[in-house]
Amino acid sequence: MFGLGHKKKNTAIQLDPNNIPIHIAIIMDGNGRWAKKRGLPRTAGHAAGADNLVKIARHAYDLGVKCLTVYAFSTENWKRPQDEVTNLMNLCMKRLPQIVDLMEHRKVAVRFLGDRSPLPEPLVQMIEEEEKRTEPYAKTGCYLNIALNYGGRDEIIHAISRISQKVKAGELAASDITEETVSAHLYTAHCPDPDLVLRPSGEIRISNFLLWQSAYSEFYYDHILWPDFSPKHLEEAILTYQGRSRRFGGVTPQK
Ligand code: IPE
Ligand code: IPE
Ligand code: MG
Repeated sequence: MFGLGHKKKNTAIQLDPNNIPIHIAIIMDGNGRWAKKRGLPRTAGHAAGADNLVKIARHAYDLGVKCLTVYAFSTENWKRPQDEVTNLMNLCMKRLPQIVDLMEHRKVAVRFLGDRSPLPEPLVQMIEEEEKRTEPYAKTGCYLNIALNYGGRDEIIHAISRISQKVKAGELAASDITEETVSAHLYTAHCPDPDLVLRPSGEIRISNFLLWQSAYSEFYYDHILWPDFSPKHLEEAILTYQGRSRRFGGVTPQK
């Protein structure tokens, strides 16, 4: 039902090129368990997870995906031991230029989703520079969104606050607030809602990711830990997606 029971095939996966999800969102989970299985520190798992992001992003854009949103650090991840949080921030600084180089090569615009204010100042500076570097590619409609200090509830509060400021300033009437108004004030305003949300590592929960945007997303869960989640696993997820019937509350059209 969720994708966990999907039979793994050894044959090449034939995907329908006309039904590739436009926007895929990934909860990059399982780095810690991946490291533990190998007797390595959790930090080694995070480094392997960052390497895998490069591999999966490359394959996703090759398949024709336009927007990829990856969950890198949640608003709840500050609860982790201080040295792990520091390592994650440092890893982000270390790997970001390499990821952005790849995106520049692919003409993909990089955007960061989340509240930047608690992030270390050098990281915020780097984020701003890297966003600027790839901004010209926004016209291609291809995006890599990195959710960093991101929380779905935090994002909704942020949107409510911005909308209420506009109402207070007389720029918007409260009676004119629609779903589109809310979507336009989220961090993901530049992308359509995700068609497919993937969560490797075996956990079957949303963990505060894209709460508003995933209202009609297809969900796919896999036991594979994120650093081991391969291009083939991505294709399996897309194949499962292509077998789903998306009704958006309506009925399946008669053939
Ligand atoms: C995901 O891997 C990375 C972050 C949340 C930053 P985890 O670190 O959550 O890995 P597990 O779930 O402990 O295996
Ligand atoms: C979700 O994973 C956040 C990221 C992958 C960045 P967590 O490992 O933090 O989620 P929980 O705690 O298992 O719900
Ligand atoms: Mg986890």
